[in-house]
Amino acid sequence: MKRRIFSGAQPTGSLHIGNYLGALRNWVDLQSEYESFYCIVNLHAITLPQDPATLRQKTLDLARIYLAAGIDPEVSTIFIQSDVSEHAELAWVLSSIARMGELERMTQFKDKGKGNRERAGVGLFTYPILMAADILLYQTHLVPVGKDQKQHLELSRDLAERFNRDYGTAFVVPDPFIPPVGANILSLQDPAKKMSKSDENPNASIFLLDEPDTIAKKIKRAVTDSGTTIVFDESRPAIHNLLTIYHLMTGKSANEIEVHFQGKGYGHLKTELAEAVVEFMKPFQERVKDFDDAHLNEILKKGAAKARIIARATLDDVYTKMGVVGAT
Ligand code: AMP
Ligand code: TRP
Repeated sequence: MKRRIFSGAQPTGSLHIGNYLGALRNWVDLQSEYESFYCIVNLHAITLPQDPATLRQKTLDLARIYLAAGIDPEVSTIFIQSDVSEHAELAWVLSSIARMGELERMTQFKDKGKGNRERAGVGLFTYPILMAADILLYQTHLVPVGKDQKQHLELSRDLAERFNRDYGTAFVVPDPFIPPVGANILSLQDPAKKMSKSDENPNASIFLLDEPDTIAKKIKRAVTDSGTTIVFDESRPAIHNLLTIYHLMTGKSANEIEVHFQGKGYGHLKTELAEAVVEFMKPFQERVKDFDDAHLNEILKKGAAKARIIARATLDDVYTKMGVVGAT
């Protein structure tokens, strides 16, 4: 039996190269080695206000992006979170064993809640419990994500271990898969922040569907630093970030890249980086046009039917172990 992967992204905003380099590319690479489940987590999206029509459209668009990135629906299971109601059910169960204190420590809640506890949604607070439910329902071994999800993964592991200890083993304890390079692509405008879908400055992120001249413009405007050499130096995060993107998109080694740019200026680096990103994105942007809505809906329906079988079996086991259902 193959080991299992589960991962997902929210159908909000537009996917950027950080999402691709930190997560999506690994989903594609790992999909045949594992039995893989890739989810569009629309129930996570509603923890912040969304326009209903936009959310519906973005949900389908995200499926299109998964496919264009190379996730093969004949190999992996692609589905929408709300189509499998067991996610919400298990989240409720896990919320009964999770502790306030461990959720209080989640840094994403502090960021997204903008530090305003009085106004922040309860769903935003319990968001990591729903994420744990997503993962644990599928007896997942490996969760490929970017670095910002590491803390959420640790909570998923803690909840699995706690349940298994208190009620008997129902869950596989999942491991994160965080790539050594690319797990934290930084904002082009402020290297103290990660590249983020919700950044209000559009120049901070390169979106997967950006036009070539937009890509070139954003890279040209990217902040650099006061040094002049083009080397991989973590104490110069802006240049390090640009070089990391270049490295991942060209496949050239760090050493090759440093030799290549020796004696050259930042302007030169930016021109070549823009060319590399545009070139890398071209086949992806072509493929996105290939999938019509009817085809996508069919894939998603099939995916949900497959996912539901596994999710239901886990939830039945959980309910039985807790005494919620079962023989008296
Ligand atoms: P989200 O857009 O928040 O649903 O994220 C989808 C995936 O992309 C998650 O696995 C994130 O960890 C990953 N991700 C988001 N932002 C970045 C970034 N700036 N660098 C690397 N990975 C990221
Ligand atoms: N919280 C993740 C993010 O914002 C999305 C997500 C929800 C997820 N459920 C998941 C990722 C389960 C991996 C596994 O990026």
